[in-house]
Amino acid sequence: MTPPLALHARSGHPDFLDLPWGAPLSAWPELCARSVELQRGLSRHEVQFVSYENAVYAFKELVEGAAEREYDLLMQMEDLGLPVVTPVGHVHDRREGSENVSVLITRYLDASHPYRVLFQNPGLERYRERLLDAMAGLIVRLHLAGVYWGDVSLSNTLFRRDAGQLGAYMVDAETSEIHETLSDGQRNQDLMILEENVLGDLLDIAIVTDLPPAMIPEETGPSIVRRYEGLWSEVTREVVIGASESWRIQERIRALNALGFSVGEVELVATGEGDRLRMRTVVTDRDYHRHLLHDLIGLVAEERQAELMLNEIQEYKARVSRELNRSVAMPIAAFRWKSEMWEPAIARLNPRLEAGGDPAQLYCEVLEHKWYMSEQAQEDVGLDRALDDYLQKIIEEP
Ligand SMILES: Nc1ncnc2c1ncn2[C@@H]1O[C@H](COP(=O)(O)OP(=O)(O)OP(=O)(O)O)[C@@H](O)[C@H]1O
Ligand SMILES: [Mg+2]
Repeated sequence: MTPPLALHARSGHPDFLDLPWGAPLSAWPELCARSVELQRGLSRHEVQFVSYENAVYAFKELVEGAAEREYDLLMQMEDLGLPVVTPVGHVHDRREGSENVSVLITRYLDASHPYRVLFQNPGLERYRERLLDAMAGLIVRLHLAGVYWGDVSLSNTLFRRDAGQLGAYMVDAETSEIHETLSDGQRNQDLMILEENVLGDLLDIAIVTDLPPAMIPEETGPSIVRRYEGLWSEVTREVVIGASESWRIQERIRALNALGFSVGEVELVATGEGDRLRMRTVVTDRDYHRHLLHDLIGLVAEERQAELMLNEIQEYKARVSRELNRSVAMPIAAFRWKSEMWEPAIARLNPRLEAGGDPAQLYCEVLEHKWYMSEQAQEDVGLDRALDDYLQKIIEEP
């Protein structure tokens, strides 16, 4: 095998030297036993997936120099805690008889779906409209961090189920720019690109499958923009408070936390009008519940999954406190919940996990099933009964 001209890979990953470098990516499926066929969105560039023992990687062939640039951008965005695909490396490769190329290596985002799959898979209908919120949320996060995307589209986003919602991840950072902060002009530019691209994405999908009645191609982009504007103004809103109203600081932080945002800093500046202060909050990420759950019991989950589990832990804490007739601290309740509720449930879900299911997602599905059954029965049916029913019914369905 001929090695490439240069290969840069992050530690903790394979060295990728066993791949058929020198050959165009389009020829890899025939040349390389590690090549795998996986769902993907439409793209101008050739993308191939390659499987190693511990992970699958995506390889994208670009013109010389472009992979290095995209890699650097993704690295910076990862440092900013943004939901982007994980950059793993870049390669400078030769091509016989034509210009040399660069290849970007990212880690395949497990359990992710390109938007086309959400529309073509009958089991995923209920996620289609949630995609609008996921998209708006992703752009708000990028803009808060000073990232101008430059090519916002459904094709450049990957979606991942997160409890009953969807999480959105940026997959294509080729056109992105990172600034200290974004001007309104830059944000608007991104939103205009979004409207145009989303229209194209949906017209494209409408050729092969029926869109949900509420999803009219011409109205979908503007609807994402409206959701974006609502969330943006809520997060960046400044509040004027009196010097003696410090509870309002807590109230504001809690409201942002409830939206999933972690608050890094609170800035208070005198308004010059009596003792009134202008409060500005700086949000650092939208993983508030993920961090909290992880800090409490070391479980890794997506944001919405973590929020559901934390609600369940709160409920569990209230029940145990009632039974013991004294208040139980959150860390203690969380540990007991983990050993008494989470672990037994996960043990019972084991067959599904072995088939490739995600523990937090499955657990949240059982929780949802419990609420549904409890609503039908007009009483709390408890987790065990919900699990019995879930394992019997849901698992037998395709
Ligand atoms: N790390 C990854 N995990 C999962 N899927 C990926 C990953 N990287 C790329 N893909 C898939 O490959 C598709 C194409 O990737 P990408 O959008 O980066 O290519 P592109 O050619 O630059 O696109 P464009 O035509 O918008 O310029 C994505 O839509 C996605 O489905
Ligand atoms: Mg793309």
